[in-house]
Amino acid sequence: MTARRLLLVNGPNLNLLGTRQPEIYGTTTLAQIEQQVTETAAGFGLEVRAVQSNHEGELIDAIQAARADCGGIIINPAAYSHTSVALRDALSAVDLPVVEVHLSNIHTREPFRHHSYVSAVARVVIAGAGPAGYEYAVRYLAEQLS
Ligand code: DQA
Repeated sequence: MTARRLLLVNGPNLNLLGTRQPEIYGTTTLAQIEQQVTETAAGFGLEVRAVQSNHEGELIDAIQAARADCGGIIINPAAYSHTSVALRDALSAVDLPVVEVHLSNIHTREPFRHHSYVSAVARVVIAGAGPAGYEYAVRYLAEQLS
């Protein structure tokens, strides 16, 4: 049976949301995003495990662990989107539906942000919707798991 739990992964520097470049990332904190995701998911009968790390290996460990007890992954890989083959390989290995979320529209920013290694292994990519992007991700996965 598919697990009714989502893994929410936020990558490096997203612990600073709220005060980090608010003109780009807004003023919503990571704690607020995690709470909102948890509440939205609960409305669909889904639990959420939220992980944030500034360390690539910790993110990979969390993704690997999801294979045992999660039905889908929402991930904002932050800067690792643009650099990490290892993160992409971990997402491929667990074989769960993945939604990639970016608060900002990475395609309208510096050229080095236009490519994400994660996008090719994501079912859905949401960029530029701000914190609402995480909610859309929950809705998509809830539908997939229903
Ligand atoms: C980000 C975009 C990335 O390019 C950046 O490195 C981040 C955040 C976003 O949510 O818009 O840290 O993933």
